[in-house]
Amino acid sequence: MLEDESDWRATAVALRDRGYATLPGAMPASAWRTLRAEAQQLFADDAFSSARIGRGDGARTEGLTRGGSICWLESGMPAGNSFLRWMDGLRLSLNRDLFLGLDSFEAQYAHYPVGAGYETHVDRHQSSNARVVSAVIYLNSDWPAEAGGELVIYDAQDAPRLTQAPDGGTLVLFMSDDTPHEARIATRERWSIAGWFRTRD
Ligand code: OGA
Ligand code: MN
Repeated sequence: MLEDESDWRATAVALRDRGYATLPGAMPASAWRTLRAEAQQLFADDAFSSARIGRGDGARTEGLTRGGSICWLESGMPAGNSFLRWMDGLRLSLNRDLFLGLDSFEAQYAHYPVGAGYETHVDRHQSSNARVVSAVIYLNSDWPAEAGGELVIYDAQDAPRLTQAPDGGTLVLFMSDDTPHEARIATRERWSIAGWFRTRD
């Protein structure tokens, strides 16, 4: 598990220089499997709600196709809370290395059923600059290449810059304001956590 300041520094540099960073194996399998089990239990308990409504949609929300459902992480969720604490270490490192003034982190478990995806969007809301850095961590075991479901980040000319399969333990960070991205439709159920480092609104 990436823990301390020096571990996160290369991530901060990539984020600064490229606008995104990928970290395969950022978290050991035992940790992301525990997160997925918590998500699945919450899902079974009907704690998830449709991803189409509520906060959490991108700046180009109108008419946007976003499948699946989400559940906001809270400190009372044991696995979710340890994830939030882990991301708080990253928040402090990003502040030290990039002077981003990140004030808080919010995150949601996301479940996409077979056939669902999330069309190209940016994460920063039109009405608020609060979201500065986006983070996604994947919770899927043995994801086959032919199952789709990749995260694709585009450049300003709509050419793919990154195509990342949703492999368990892979963490992707990108800037929330100017990074168009999509989650491609998958032929399997897809579990992840999507989160946002925020400044004060
Ligand atoms: C999001 C998002 C991408 C992914 O939730 O805003 O873009 O790969 N997710 O799950
Ligand atoms: Mn997004």
